[in-house]
Amino acid sequence: MLLSVRGLTAGYEETCVVRGVDLDLRESETFVLVGPNGHGKTTLLRAISGLLRPQAGEVWFDGRRIDQMRTEELAPLGLVHIPQGDHLFPDLTVEENLLMGAFPRASWRGRRQRLDRVYALFPRLADRRRQRARTLSGGERRQVALGRGLMQEARLLLVDEPSLGLAPVIVDVVYDALKQIAAELTGVLLVEENFAHIGEIADRVGVFEMGRIVREGSAAELAADRMVAESYLGGIA
Ligand SMILES: Nc1ncnc2c1ncn2[C@@H]1O[C@H](COP(=O)(O)OP(=O)(O)O)[C@@H](O)[C@H]1O
Ligand SMILES: [Mg+2]
Repeated sequence: MLLSVRGLTAGYEETCVVRGVDLDLRESETFVLVGPNGHGKTTLLRAISGLLRPQAGEVWFDGRRIDQMRTEELAPLGLVHIPQGDHLFPDLTVEENLLMGAFPRASWRGRRQRLDRVYALFPRLADRRRQRARTLSGGERRQVALGRGLMQEARLLLVDEPSLGLAPVIVDVVYDALKQIAAELTGVLLVEENFAHIGEIADRVGVFEMGRIVREGSAAELAADRMVAESYLGGIA
């Protein structure tokens, strides 16, 4: 198992937001969690990637227990988290922002190769490589944020709402890139609010409500579930 989450409970101070999540992800599998705003999807990803210390439960990555480890220790092991909301350095250029994602001790040649890979996935960024991040469109910023995560050699990529707030044509660009990444050896744990874009990419889907995975299956199985379909299929119909 690439990732095993057992009874994971996490929140803020006294508040419990994630309530006993169990989740298994095999090597190179893509698992998508779908669920409404405010139910704890981001908190779950943060608890897995070490940005937030869990209140209870265990997280195992590649046979190693990681729930007491920090993000900076996990990234070199190949667990890379691309957070919701982009968080670029506005006064740095596209390329400088991307290079921020590379390992501090990566060789010049290694960085160059990763950059070329990102530019191949997002050709728009190659055209804008010398442009400051604050002058970019929302869609371009999202591509930089994803590209920066891809500057590291991930074995498991956590991606939080990559389609949020984007025009449909940019969502297609983003998902084409995610599909290519998912087709490689990388495991992907992806979070979205609904099913609209995930049909082709998801090996398995979990419905996440009130801090728990309440249903799990293939995208087709869940689409056939009337309650799930009514809540989350609005984007497809
Ligand atoms: N830093 C924080 N401090 C306190 N409460 C938070 C914090 N971040 C999120 N929350 C609360 O945790 C709950 C779940 O939020 P979140 O994990 O962002 O949900 P989702 O990603 O599903 O929209 C919400 O009620 C939110 O207000
Ligand atoms: Mg969120």
